[in-house]
Amino acid sequence: MLVQQRIVPDGFLGKWQQTTNVMAGIFDVPAGLIMRVWPEQIEVLVSSHTPGNPYEEGEKANLNTGLYCETVMATRSLLEVPHALEDAHWENNPDVALNMVSYLGVPLLWPDGEVFGTICVLDSKKRQFQQRYVELLWEIKRTIEADFQIIMQQQKLVVGNANLSAANQALAQSNKELKAALEQVSTMQGELLRAEKMSALGNLVAGVAHELNTPIGNGLMAASTLKSNAEDMARQLEAGVTRKRLHEFIDGIGQGTDILLHCLGRAAELVDSFKQVAVDQSSMRRRQFDLQQTFAETLATLGNLIRQSGHQVHCNVPDGIVMDGYPGALEQVLLNLVNNGLVHAFPAGTRGQIHIKARLDADDWVELSVSDDGVGIPPDNLGQVFDPFFTTRLGQGGSGLGLHVVYNQVTTALRGSVRVDSEPGHGARFTLRIPRVVPHEPE
Ligand SMILES: Nc1ncnc2c1ncn2[C@@H]1O[C@H](COP(=O)(O)OP(=O)(O)OP(=O)(O)O)[C@@H](O)[C@H]1O
Ligand SMILES: [Mg+2]
Repeated sequence: MLVQQRIVPDGFLGKWQQTTNVMAGIFDVPAGLIMRVWPEQIEVLVSSHTPGNPYEEGEKANLNTGLYCETVMATRSLLEVPHALEDAHWENNPDVALNMVSYLGVPLLWPDGEVFGTICVLDSKKRQFQQRYVELLWEIKRTIEADFQIIMQQQKLVVGNANLSAANQALAQSNKELKAALEQVSTMQGELLRAEKMSALGNLVAGVAHELNTPIGNGLMAASTLKSNAEDMARQLEAGVTRKRLHEFIDGIGQGTDILLHCLGRAAELVDSFKQVAVDQSSMRRRQFDLQQTFAETLATLGNLIRQSGHQVHCNVPDGIVMDGYPGALEQVLLNLVNNGLVHAFPAGTRGQIHIKARLDADDWVELSVSDDGVGIPPDNLGQVFDPFFTTRLGQGGSGLGLHVVYNQVTTALRGSVRVDSEPGHGARFTLRIPRVVPHEPE
């Protein structure tokens, strides 16, 4: 890392070359150098373009050989050698071999305090530089060290950029993964929905079969009894029958057909309500309709039933909500909800209130509620009331399809949602949210 940090961009090298050339000119020396230290060696990084300069750029020399620069780097201070051959300490140093006998140099320090190398001038003759030359050398040193700061900041920027683009890449990757996960979730959702629909359909078919079983079974029994009675009578006719026997026979036929009619009637009734369950949008007429008016008409058909029940139904739908969709579906929903209130909410002998409310939201959805102040729905049942065949009035006329029809119509034909809230003893509230305009082209 340390070595890596000392790599100098070309732009700076060019600039330092100029500086070194000018420096060598001012000092009037054959060699002005910028040296860079490596772990075992020292390298001529920049060498002035001056006549008689024996140093070449890129040249390297081993350390621990007694170079002038080694002393500068080790002491981190200025070294001035006016004439090596007059100085026992310097007379054998390697630069003397190049005839460089005088030296003036200062250390170059990297911003982190590590030694980068040196900047120096060398001459082939004895030199004693005046103080202002020494000051100039220090000044040049500071300029180059200021460049080191810039280099280091640039390097940091490069590293930062690399980190940033790595982070960007990681982000892009995780985005891709998220997208894939999302796609998977939505296919899974689709599959789940299909599976749920299939199992709901399966349940429904099983329920229909089960419900129809009773009237059809009873009807079959009645019919086969009638048949065997008729065969008996045919045999007895050969031998002659009494008037009393004939009367018994006719009575039997009457009872049998009564049972048959009752069973067939019940079966027809069931088939009728099952038909409601299957929401067939294509057979429904789409049109624009006024919500208030449609509700008023629907409630009118329940007029007798409501009066007889002794309960009160209040309809509070504002004027001017014009819907675009399937009024038939909405009528069926309202009928079932109000009917349920009348049938399930109020114990005999009480007088209950049912409130119907509607309002148009800012997002062009209509919120509808049908609530009562009756007995409410026990928490255990709340999750099941929309299931087909869930009823608490089994054998008392309840088939448990009313709310299932509501759910189907609201979610399928009307493209909305429905939920129920209830606390035992505090009534039940059914809340629907449906778009004022049912979207066209259902999937
Ligand atoms: N307003 C209400 N108050 C109390 N309980 C209710 C109310 N509405 C529905 N329920 C409960 O939810 C059950 C399911 O209602 P749903 O309309 O599906 O069937 P049902 O009314 O019993 O039979 P069907 O409507 O097919 O004749 C009811 O049996 C009843 O227990
Ligand atoms: Mg019902």
